[in-house]
Amino acid sequence: MNFSNRITELFNIQYPIIQAGMIWASGWRLASAVSNAGGLGIIGAGSMYPDILKEHIAKCKAATNKPFAVNIPLLYPDIEQHINTIISEKIPIVFTSAGNPKIWTPILKENGIKVVHVVSSSLFAKKVEAAGCDAVVAEGFEAGGHNGREETTTMVLIPAVKKSISIPLIAAGGIATGKQMFAAMVLGADAVQIGSRFVCTNEASSHQSFKEAIINSNEGDTMLHLKKTVPVRLLKNKFAEKIKEAEERGATAEELNEILGRARAKKGMFEGDLEEGELEIGQVSSIINEIKPAAEVVKEIWEEFHQTLQNPLN
Ligand SMILES: Cc1cc2nc3c(=O)[nH]c(=O)nc-3n(C[C@H](O)[C@H](O)[C@H](O)COP(=O)(O)O)c2cc1C
Repeated sequence: MNFSNRITELFNIQYPIIQAGMIWASGWRLASAVSNAGGLGIIGAGSMYPDILKEHIAKCKAATNKPFAVNIPLLYPDIEQHINTIISEKIPIVFTSAGNPKIWTPILKENGIKVVHVVSSSLFAKKVEAAGCDAVVAEGFEAGGHNGREETTTMVLIPAVKKSISIPLIAAGGIATGKQMFAAMVLGADAVQIGSRFVCTNEASSHQSFKEAIINSNEGDTMLHLKKTVPVRLLKNKFAEKIKEAEERGATAEELNEILGRARAKKGMFEGDLEEGELEIGQVSSIINEIKPAAEVVKEIWEEFHQTLQNPLN
């Protein structure tokens, strides 16, 4: 099916399927596989030192001639170096998150780069539009990784954001199938950003044990933690239990930061320590049952979306 809308035109891609930028998961292998399959692949720069990002960009360019993007969480300590790399490497699209889009958007736009920012409320979506971004990702509370404090679900967030902005809208959080994609688009999204489903692909750099823990997880196995500091949805394990206990006894932000310590995310998601590591994943993990190539994931989602479009209530 030939398909075209504001997002496929903005990014010059075949399908409005975006693979989320994800720390310790989305390097050049995953991003290039998704872009080659007709979606938009994103390199997650939040876990990369500046020279590592350069290496991933070079490898991604060698692996695909399709557009791909880079995600930078704006709290990243060496942000100027990442921004300079993106400009000098002529990356066409940047997805920013976790910070104020006013600071870097004008500089990126001056360099001809398309900028998309991630939010979890209509209020912030309006700020993103005012900052001059080209599109917004609205991410619901189901999502894996860092999350909004207000706990607004994708089902509620998308129609609300749709009403509050006129730039293109990308839905994220709890989407792993073509039917879920269809639902998000019926609610007003122009495209979907998918994270958790792409962690369980052969090309994701996540540890194999983490991928297997996801496919073996059930409904109710993820929870939002650390609302006092940086809210994040995690798969249940010994570490998440420790955090939960501390939160229940009213631990301060300092105590929570101490329990978190350093490099927890790397330990869990990249090194495969399923007990002591931080395992970021979305609620949708309970319906992900197989690790497969990223191109197959894109194809399946697109085919199911297309079939649903023909016969929505089947
Ligand atoms: C393992 C993992 C790492 C993530 N890392 C980032 C990140 O570095 N930057 C970011 O903006 N979002 C990050 N996210 C959120 C995703 O970009 C995306 O919005 C989210 O996964 C969508 O929800 P889903 O997991 O239900 O598909 C991460 C999500 C996961 C599961």
